[in-house]
Amino acid sequence: MAAASGSLFNKSLVSIKDLDKKTIEQVLLESNKMLELCNGAGHSDILKGKIMATLFFEPSTRTRLSFESAMHKLGGSVIGFSDPSHTSSAKGESLADTVKIVSAYANLLVIRHPMEGAINEALKSAGVPIINAGDGTGQHPTQALYDLFTIKQEKGTLSGLDVALVGDLKHGRTIHSLAYGLALFGSNLTLISPAQLRMPEQMVAELKDNYGITVKQSESLDPALSADVVYIPRMQKERFSDPKEYERFAAYYVINNKFMDKAAEKTIIMSPLPRTVEIHPEIDGLKNAAYFRQAAYGIPVRMAILKMILSKD
Ligand code: NCD
Repeated sequence: MAAASGSLFNKSLVSIKDLDKKTIEQVLLESNKMLELCNGAGHSDILKGKIMATLFFEPSTRTRLSFESAMHKLGGSVIGFSDPSHTSSAKGESLADTVKIVSAYANLLVIRHPMEGAINEALKSAGVPIINAGDGTGQHPTQALYDLFTIKQEKGTLSGLDVALVGDLKHGRTIHSLAYGLALFGSNLTLISPAQLRMPEQMVAELKDNYGITVKQSESLDPALSADVVYIPRMQKERFSDPKEYERFAAYYVINNKFMDKAAEKTIIMSPLPRTVEIHPEIDGLKNAAYFRQAAYGIPVRMAILKMILSKD
């Protein structure tokens, strides 16, 4: 089953790069309608009779629960697992076989897996669309879609902004997806990381060469002080081969009152969450702290995606 471009109906969503600008705009528009629905009646039955399966081979709170909540709000049903040690994969079943079997039980699979590229593998045996809910250090397209939705809500536009992507740019799949989404809409990127955790070179080259945006790299956090958006996920502990290396970088950048005192008034702080030490709770009460609003937008945006994949109208 091919990935999406144009309409999302009956398509899989593996990478943000599968989506053209028009399709992302449609998702954002539909998300607005879903936000209205959430704030009004709160639910509908447009996906009544449809079943979504969540296959989570890695930990998750927001992604799995917001997908499940989104499906329930649209009248659909949910099956799935969040602990693969209780499934046949613990007996040695391949991902391909699991996906083939569950395709007969559900209309859509939402899969999170520790291996980059796992979803492309899964697609080969899938009989229904798959949404990539994070594949190792690869992609996390639905996170990027609600990150974009959040930026649009907060800033009124997705083009011409200065966005600082901060921290573990090597392993962060949310960063990898969001960078392409922002580039597509013409926002400029400042990539802030220690030298050891830079964004993969081929990705930087692609962003620089193919999108006509400015891409700067910095080890210092200073350029973030004047950015429109500072996006700072946690250091991705589970992706470090050397735990000492993680300890060294965990608090390399910290957004706290000291940072916010110097930052521009317009600067908003975003994170896919969970946070560890990189965003101090002392800034939670500031209007610039957008990460909890961002997490809440996961619901309407995932409702929009589910509706667009599972329903023709
Ligand atoms: C992110 C992920 O799993 O990639 N979490 C999420 O989906 N909101 C980011 C992270 O774990 O740091």
